Amino acid sequence: MSRENWGSRLGFMLAAMGSAVGLGNIWRFSFVAGNNGGGAFLILYLLCVLLIGIPLLLSEVSIGRKAQSDVVGSFKKLAPGTPWFLTGFFGVLSAFLILGFYSVVAGWAIYYFIQYVTGSFAAQPEAGYGGAFGEFISNSWYPLFWTALFMGLTIFIVVSGVKKGIESANKIFMPLLAIILIVLAFYSISFDGAAEGLRFLFSPDWSAFSDPSIYIAALGQAFFSLSIGMGAMLTYGSYLSKEHKLPGATLGIGIMDTFFAVVSGLVIFPAVFAFGIDPASGPPLVFITLPTIFEQIPLGGIVGVVFFFALILAALSSSVSILEVPTAYFMRVFNWSRRFTTILMGSIMFVLGIVVSLGFGIWAGVTPIGERNILDSMDYVASYIFLPLGGLAMILFVGWYFTKQQALEATDFTGSAVGNVWYFIVRYFAPIGIILVCLNSLGII
Ligand code: TRP
Repeated sequence: MSRENWGSRLGFMLAAMGSAVGLGNIWRFSFVAGNNGGGAFLILYLLCVLLIGIPLLLSEVSIGRKAQSDVVGSFKKLAPGTPWFLTGFFGVLSAFLILGFYSVVAGWAIYYFIQYVTGSFAAQPEAGYGGAFGEFISNSWYPLFWTALFMGLTIFIVVSGVKKGIESANKIFMPLLAIILIVLAFYSISFDGAAEGLRFLFSPDWSAFSDPSIYIAALGQAFFSLSIGMGAMLTYGSYLSKEHKLPGATLGIGIMDTFFAVVSGLVIFPAVFAFGIDPASGPPLVFITLPTIFEQIPLGGIVGVVFFFALILAALSSSVSILEVPTAYFMRVFNWSRRFTTILMGSIMFVLGIVVSLGFGIWAGVTPIGERNILDSMDYVASYIFLPLGGLAMILFVGWYFTKQQALEATDFTGSAVGNVWYFIVRYFAPIGIILVCLNSLGII
């Protein structure tokens, strides 16, 4: 059976940007920045994106394009008889962990969308937005309906190949989301007391750098947001043919993704401080802050509808890239149909989603790792262990398993001066950086 193909570089870029831009930029970026002291985190995050994330993104895509196979198959093909393919198993595992909780959070976003469509969030509910949200997520069954709906949509898109449709929809809705965010940022900055939020985000508290956990938080967020370290970008790269040039495309994806995160920060933090919301509220942060903003601005009810619709589409174009990783792998290995494989993988992820969702209700006391609830624990394992290790393996593969000539050729960097800088980063700087951050988070250094 011949493998599918993107047809054009633009098709690949739209899909990869769709993968990168999602809940990670708005929901995850905000609460992780809020938990980790704001400014100091932002600096480290930007450094991680530029010096490790984007060079790794290029490496990851180039492995897939060179091998033209899935996340396990690519390593088996390029390095037969070696254990490099184990990298792929990490990726497949991460996909289950990540989509397990991603679908729950996306379900919350669908619920919010419906609240704005029906107008029931136009005025603050009796319990306040925070209270209403807490009540909603602690319900055992209701949130699962929305999780199931989101998972069903994701499966449908991956099965039916309307991925192309979602990408062209994103051509309209991603810019729309960007415009709404920029407008919201202006409103947010103009609220009384907003300056404190800007200070929180842009003027780092230097003492925060002595806290080891913010380094891994920044690295994990960079990986999560750029969709790297798991093989999603590798798999997308495998549907790309050789004539399309990679460096410019991956730089564009990285810049776009980071732009969304920074603008989200400009929306959330001024409002957080203006309205006295706790920046360290954790995963609920944006779900409390956004409705508070919408309540204050003209036409907020309509902005809410459009915003959450665009956010759901952004989340869908990310979730399909996650589901694609195990789907591509199991399809090839067991020779199953795309339809059967997708439904099976999606269903397993939904079961994980049930566990995550109950972690906010009847299982609220369950804390598998440290003080973390089920969602935070799964996110911790995926973002702070599996993605960095997967990314480290991929970057070592390109920097050390490939010859320099192969690495430059795989990334369309042959004969380029920038290519030499990239190669230095991939061979020395980034792997050492990832290892140091991981050791540091384990308390070893
Ligand atoms: N980057 C996406 C977001 O920010 C989420 C995502 C898609 C992802 N594919 C991934 C995260 C692969 C890690 C690995 O919402």
